[in-house]
Amino acid sequence: KIGAMPDGAIIVTGSLNMDFVVQVERLPAPGETARGSNFQTIPGGKGANQACAAARLARSNPVSMIGRVGYDAFADHLRASLAAAGVDTSRIHGCRRAPTGVALIWVDRTGQNSIVIAPGANDELAPADLETERQAFVSAACALFQLETPLETVAAGLRLARAGGALSILDPAPARPLPGDVLALVDLVTPNETEACLLAGREPGRIRAAEAPGLAAALRQRGPRAVVLKLGDQGCYYSGPEGEWHAPAFQVQAIDATAAGDTFNGALAVALAEGRPVPEALRFANAAAALSVTRLGAQASIPAREEAEQFLRQQPQC
Ligand code: RIB
Repeated sequence: KIGAMPDGAIIVTGSLNMDFVVQVERLPAPGETARGSNFQTIPGGKGANQACAAARLARSNPVSMIGRVGYDAFADHLRASLAAAGVDTSRIHGCRRAPTGVALIWVDRTGQNSIVIAPGANDELAPADLETERQAFVSAACALFQLETPLETVAAGLRLARAGGALSILDPAPARPLPGDVLALVDLVTPNETEACLLAGREPGRIRAAEAPGLAAALRQRGPRAVVLKLGDQGCYYSGPEGEWHAPAFQVQAIDATAAGDTFNGALAVALAEGRPVPEALRFANAAAALSVTRLGAQASIPAREEAEQFLRQQPQC
């Protein structure tokens, strides 16, 4: 069964980026100069977004983040954003060799985005940095990972999570091929459509809901105990030891999809750490992600617990 130690901590290992966000009518083609508006700097980074989501959505589970930032003004801003959300930032260390990570993001009028990251200090997060935090994985309910830090560091974290008994959740984003020995260390992997196609060795493209069971089975054969396919406006599909479920997406007015997947993962970790059954956890994660899409920016868009619950109360039960 996929479950987490109740009341344990949620520990997120991953990236912190300062996002430079510009809204555009449509995403520019190669070589094109586009005119944008509403430039903003907004705290982001897949790891930090997941930590922020878990902290805003948790009732009582403590949330902590492991990561690296430079010695610059962005680092202070990113730490402050997480601390304000309730994340323990004492495991985010400074790095002298590289600046804080940044992301350049264009968001079009349909809410779709294009992102380029310059990882900076995120690339300096080493397996040894996680070794020194070994104890944190022992008391954790869930350990969350993504792929904006070096793969050997993610693998080291997954090993610590397994040894410590924490439920590991890997968001395989940004998409990259993953070796079987890394996937075998994962309890729950949560690819979007592009990432799922890459991991399953098929052409990137949309996944029809009818294809989800076959694709999830193919991914589980590569090692993880369970899979959640994040299917955008088609919702999500879970396949694990206790069964298979499709949770439809909530319809909202999309402003910006940035960090919707991160919000989903943070929310899913919270719900599983609270011991909620998988279908309920998926519904909660879909609700939090849907709310995040209605607002601009990464951490700026992540809802609080009360907001997610109120949104759910307004939805017809299905
Ligand atoms: O998933 C969204 C995030 O991807 C952004 O906040 C950006 O920093 C990139 O890491």
